[in-house]
Amino acid sequence: MSSYLGKSKTFSQLLSFVLTCHLFLLIGMIHSSPPENPIKCSSPSNSNCTVTNSIGEFSDRAICRVSNAIYPRTEQELIAAVAMASKNKTKVKVATRYSHSLTKLVCPDESPNGNLIISTMYLNRTLSIDNSTRIMTVEPGVLLRDVMSQAAKFGLALPASPYWWGLTVGGMISTGAHGSTLWGNGSYVHDYVIGLQIVTPASPDEGYAKVRVLDSNHPDIKAAKLSLGVLGVISQITLKLQPLFKRSITVVRENDSDLATRATTFGKEYEFADITWYPYQRRALYRLDGRVSTNISGNGLNDFTGFRSTLTLALAVVRSSEETQEATGDANGKCISARVTTFALRISGFGFTNDGNLFTGYPIVGYQNRLQASGSCIDGSPDALITSCPWDPRINGNFYHQTTVNLPLSKVKNFIEDVQTLRDLVPEAFCGLELSSGIWMRYIKGSNVYLGTDEDSMDFDLTYYRSKNGSTPRLFEDILEEIEQIAVFKYGGIPHWGKNRNVGFIGAISKYKLANEFLKVKESYDTSGVFSSKWTDQILGLDQSGVTIVKDGCALEGLCICSEDIHCAPQKGYVCRPGRLFTSARVCTDINRVAMDITPVLFEEEDLGFSDM
Ligand SMILES: *[C@@H]1O[C@H](CO)[C@@H](O)[C@H](O)[C@H]1NC(C)=O
Ligand SMILES: *[C@@H]1O[C@H](CO)[C@@H](O)[C@H](O)[C@H]1NC(C)=O
Ligand SMILES: *[C@@H]1O[C@H](CO)[C@@H](O)[C@H](O)[C@H]1NC(C)=O
Ligand SMILES: *[C@@H]1O[C@H](CO)[C@@H](O)[C@H](O)[C@H]1NC(C)=O
Ligand SMILES: *[C@@H]1O[C@H](CO)[C@@H](O)[C@H](O)[C@H]1NC(C)=O
Ligand SMILES: *[C@@H]1O[C@H](CO)[C@@H](O)[C@H](O)[C@H]1NC(C)=O
Ligand SMILES: *[C@@H]1O[C@H](CO)[C@@H](O)[C@H](O)[C@H]1NC(C)=O
Ligand SMILES: *[C@@H]1O[C@H](CO)[C@@H](O)[C@H](O)[C@H]1NC(C)=O
Repeated sequence: MSSYLGKSKTFSQLLSFVLTCHLFLLIGMIHSSPPENPIKCSSPSNSNCTVTNSIGEFSDRAICRVSNAIYPRTEQELIAAVAMASKNKTKVKVATRYSHSLTKLVCPDESPNGNLIISTMYLNRTLSIDNSTRIMTVEPGVLLRDVMSQAAKFGLALPASPYWWGLTVGGMISTGAHGSTLWGNGSYVHDYVIGLQIVTPASPDEGYAKVRVLDSNHPDIKAAKLSLGVLGVISQITLKLQPLFKRSITVVRENDSDLATRATTFGKEYEFADITWYPYQRRALYRLDGRVSTNISGNGLNDFTGFRSTLTLALAVVRSSEETQEATGDANGKCISARVTTFALRISGFGFTNDGNLFTGYPIVGYQNRLQASGSCIDGSPDALITSCPWDPRINGNFYHQTTVNLPLSKVKNFIEDVQTLRDLVPEAFCGLELSSGIWMRYIKGSNVYLGTDEDSMDFDLTYYRSKNGSTPRLFEDILEEIEQIAVFKYGGIPHWGKNRNVGFIGAISKYKLANEFLKVKESYDTSGVFSSKWTDQILGLDQSGVTIVKDGCALEGLCICSEDIHCAPQKGYVCRPGRLFTSARVCTDINRVAMDITPVLFEEEDLGFSDM
């Protein structure tokens, strides 16, 4: 304690953090403002529009303009919209109610005869649900939240899904969204899809559009489940569910000295295992999470703190505090903030409660529909912006990059050891990550879709500070760039289609053995390519210009890998250098910071007066 108080110049900052964290936890029933529609049109007839995503900017900061937006409410209206685009050869894309992809999968290319966006906002009905066959059929715009709650009313559950429920079924399967499991039917949402209807362009005598009905035996379903939206518009999705079950969740905090070996086997021990790794703090949180008998008592609820409505004022304090730390190079300040944030999250049980009200300790036992995902910040009435989702672009809140790469289990050990080596060289470089949930690791079971991972693997999710100004370098820019390049190039990791910066997609398509099968289906479904854009052609390897954008400062935002200093920010001391460990990497290094040879002060939570639970 005394060593900390003696050395720190940032006590007031710490105090403001503690206060902020308390505010986070105390948010009650104050009016929340739900996220805005990412499609905004300047004319009342839904023309002259822009489309963006939930954080307000795509990974390359492109502004996506569309001439017309259409909101079909039935499959017939959807067919008419696709027919119009197909007949006119108008570029078209599909957007969802909240639009969560960081990459611009929703952007149709601009052209002189206009372009079109189709929203699935009102295609959000549950069409049927049968608890004898356990089959549920939904329209593509139904939210994960609603799948969970409606299935539960019929005694059914979707076993695997992302943890954030503001995603639509169509969006989840089209981008390969997943939960964490190596067991049973798998971790991808599409592993539970047994049928689809998709509206695609068609010949003039077919009326320019048609509905294709694909059951689980149809060969094209391997393309249509995870399609990145380039085949057409999904109009119906049929899910095969399981009987509603209970889970028991315990989060255990351990040191990370055996993480590299343990991570390769932990996923086989618990059905819904995942790991949150805090490299700077040398800790890993192991989630011991699996099914239990429904006769075990417990009515636990997951309302994850990070997905709750939060006071916009508090969010702004947190953000501006991080902006100040970035601007002043206050690495230790970030490390203290990281410790306080992770401590506050941990003692509050990450938003888990044992009975819907209080967190009194592990295990959390409850029904699948109450534990698998959360996202209460999307509820509320649009009358005030006192609270919002933490990343709402209308406030100065979270703004981040996300690097999410999937590695086969056979490579997980070496990758973790590499990250640990970098951590030992520059521990404080990892504090920024720890402000946003550390390195989050989930297990993925191999799946047979053409654009999915076909072997058991682990997904590494890194969320980190992004400046509002694309030409401003980040603190320890070089270390995260090196990790990104180690994951993607040294170990051949594949990027999550809906996350990542451009660098993550370099050579991605060549990592899929059956990519050609996917492209054949795309050719036959959308012969004139109205559902394709320059971006989807680039990531699918059809546009030889590739995914990188070379310009001054391009490496700062992951638009390119630097090859010259000018791709970094030489005027601010950031120059292009080899990686420290992976010497083929090229990263933007702050020469002043390297020269400073700082020795960080390592803080333990105990130093801050916190004790273990
Ligand atoms: C389209 O909207 C922009 C603002 O978003 C406006 O400046 C422009 O004048 C509009 N164009 C037309 C043709 O309405
Ligand atoms: C399609 O073309 C027709 C006739 O050329 C035109 O009236 C209509 O506005 C066009 N629709 C779109 C979406 O471009
Ligand atoms: C469908 O979405 C609309 C617009 O967000 C909403 O008003 C409506 O309640 C939703 N319907 C269902 C069945 O969820
Ligand atoms: C099926 O769902 C209905 C309606 O919620 C319910 O009454 C019935 O008990 C359920 N049957 C089973 C086997 O869960
Ligand atoms: C899940 O696995 C079971 C047992 O292997 C199988 O019967 C069922 O069809 C699978 N479900 C799906 C959606 O493939
Ligand atoms: C990490 O924890 C293990 C037991 O879980 C222990 O044996 C080891 O000494 C610990 N390492 C450090 C560096 O604390
Ligand atoms: C709970 O259910 C299991 C079977 O699922 C049964 O073997 C066990 O006896 C039950 N326990 C209690 C306390 O009812
Ligand atoms: C970003 O920062 C640079 C200087 O580093 C400045 O020239 C530029 O105007 C800023 N851009 C924005 C959009 O603020």
